[in-house]
Amino acid sequence: MEHIDEALLKKVDSFIESAFAPSDDVLTAALRDADAAGLPAIHVSSNEGKLLYLLALIANARRVLEIGTLGGYSTIWLGRAVAPGGRVVTLESNSLHAKVSRGNIERAGLRDIIQIREGRAAETLETMIAAREEPFDLIFIDADKPSYVEYLRLALKLSRPGTVILADNLICNGRVFDADADENARGVKAYNEAITSDTRLESLIVPIFREKLDGLGISIVRTTER
Ligand code: SAH
Ligand code: DHB
Ligand code: MG
Repeated sequence: MEHIDEALLKKVDSFIESAFAPSDDVLTAALRDADAAGLPAIHVSSNEGKLLYLLALIANARRVLEIGTLGGYSTIWLGRAVAPGGRVVTLESNSLHAKVSRGNIERAGLRDIIQIREGRAAETLETMIAAREEPFDLIFIDADKPSYVEYLRLALKLSRPGTVILADNLICNGRVFDADADENARGVKAYNEAITSDTRLESLIVPIFREKLDGLGISIVRTTER
């Protein structure tokens, strides 16, 4: 096969971004404030943000759950998809990240749509399950990678047949294929294996190019019964 050069991948990615996912004042300010507060720049790209937004629209999602808020960049994309009248619950353990997100969500005019729940996600999810919260239409997993399989197990308890479960960073620039993968790559590799073999789900990984190659897992819950 002919060699695909990185410059071409970047050109294609930039073309798609300028045509379909241009930034705006709210998104630009959200990234600026996150950077100014010292948050790591590990948010989804604008193209992936647009993909999350489109998937939420396609699923006609009214109730969205996000695991891993950071500065609220992906959260704003999801909030825009469910507004007006919908709800995004986003889970974040770092109080500085939660604080920066609150400012960004307020500026986006999404304060009544998006609720940030502070605390370790696994504990928050257990509390939500125990409280028998209504199932979500779409769940986006993007927090600590070693916990991804546990988040999938808990997400399924907050799902109904038809719920869409998304997971970021499933390829990690190919590190998932390495025998000596670090704990993050091992975590997403275990998630890949879980969605491959779980008969309750129908799944695919869509490759995502940013600076590196990554992948978004897309699963639909066919049944919540084992
Ligand atoms: N979804 C964001 C990026 C999330 S980065 C975006 O694309 O804009 C991952 C986030 O998960 C970080 O903010 C980190 O603090 C948070 N996180 C890590 N471990 C966590 C845990 N155990 N519970 C909740 N949040 C966690
Ligand atoms: C990291 C986490 C992410 O969710 C991401 O999209 C990129 C990098 C990280 O922890 O390094
Ligand atoms: Mg991510």
